[in-house]
Amino acid sequence: MVLVTGGAGYIGSHTCISLIEAGYDLVVFDNFCNSSRESLKRVEKIVGRKINFFEGDIRSSEDLDGVFKAFEIDSVIHFAGLKAVGESVAEPVMYYDNNVSGTVKLCEAMNKHKCKKIVFSSSATVYGDPHTTPIKEDFPLSATNPYGRSKLFIEEILRDIFVSDSEWKIVLLRYFNPVGAHKSGTIGEDPNGIPNNLMPYIAQTAVGKLECLSVFGGDYDTEDGTGVRDYIHVVDLADGHVKALNIINKLENVLTVNLGTGNGYSVLDMVKAFEKASGKTVNYKIAPRRAGDIAKCYADPSYALEQLGWSAKLGVDEMCEDSWRWQSNNPEGYTA
Ligand code: NAD
Ligand code: UFG
Repeated sequence: MVLVTGGAGYIGSHTCISLIEAGYDLVVFDNFCNSSRESLKRVEKIVGRKINFFEGDIRSSEDLDGVFKAFEIDSVIHFAGLKAVGESVAEPVMYYDNNVSGTVKLCEAMNKHKCKKIVFSSSATVYGDPHTTPIKEDFPLSATNPYGRSKLFIEEILRDIFVSDSEWKIVLLRYFNPVGAHKSGTIGEDPNGIPNNLMPYIAQTAVGKLECLSVFGGDYDTEDGTGVRDYIHVVDLADGHVKALNIINKLENVLTVNLGTGNGYSVLDMVKAFEKASGKTVNYKIAPRRAGDIAKCYADPSYALEQLGWSAKLGVDEMCEDSWRWQSNNPEGYTA
């Protein structure tokens, strides 16, 4: 059985579906600090069966002992964590406690219960401001905020664990920019308050909840002057986790792979693609650059293909169509 920490969240809920479709049994472990039970109910509807679920906090050894005792857990996919860059600058201790201390507690529990296989949600943010694109896994690592540093620290901690005990099987997945939603339109990204990220902001502008998108910077050294990112459909990303679990037993070293499409799209490309998918106008204005942003970030995904047999299948049109279906069917997210 696979323990999915943070399995009620955006990427976790989509990954639960892919795991079940691939024949894996799983138990979700979540404290709902950034998600709701409703997402799991909807996952149950999509897969047509009950999902095992344990409410708990990864920082609590007691909670972790509880789930390891209640289920026969063989491997862990570890999504649980906080992810808002700005909030991490304001609340660094909360981020280090939740992400880093939480992961240490999880590893302690895994050791205790002799479960030594983990797939970890890392991020392209660990490349800092890359010297060139596309980004390969051996590029230098750096961080510019506590969120990014928490991901870097966790990667290092997991590598140290492997050095101390080579029975561990560890996959570090560095996600680029996850967007989109399940094609049913019943689960998707449901940010609290005003979204920080581009796609939910565009979607909420298109649906009429927000008035106007501020495009952060029109003077970057990119084709149209706006920031370029590697947007990846969350269903492709979910599939990357299944592929990682499929090969994890064969690993002889810590495996680190980029999960991206290899294509870079600008902010204005995404606005246009979303307008096409939704038939709505997305009002926008060019605004000053956002502190900490970089011009271009996209993956070289060839190592993922070589190591996992994984590559992204869905393009920008599907990302926008699926995101629109979720947003227009659920303008208030899961709370409606
Ligand atoms: P999310 O907030 O939707 O999901 C995270 C889940 O973890 C939530 O359900 C939350 O309630 C749970 N959680 C948080 N702290 C917990 C704790 N202490 N104990 C138990 N559960 C806890 O975020 P997401 O977008 O699905 O991201 C999942 C993972 O992927 C995170 O680790 C995130 O840092 C990483 N990641 C996300 C992105 C992105 O842009 N979405 C990019 C790169 C990496
Ligand atoms: N952008 C806007 N207006 C907005 C929001 C974003 O113009 O209202 C622009 C940004 O300047 C950037 C692009 O849209 O050029 C993407 O921004 P996001 O905030 O959606 O994503 P980032 O690339 O900044 O960062 C995201 C996550 C990080 C993660 C990183 C890599 O927020 O946590 O992807 O995975 F580390």
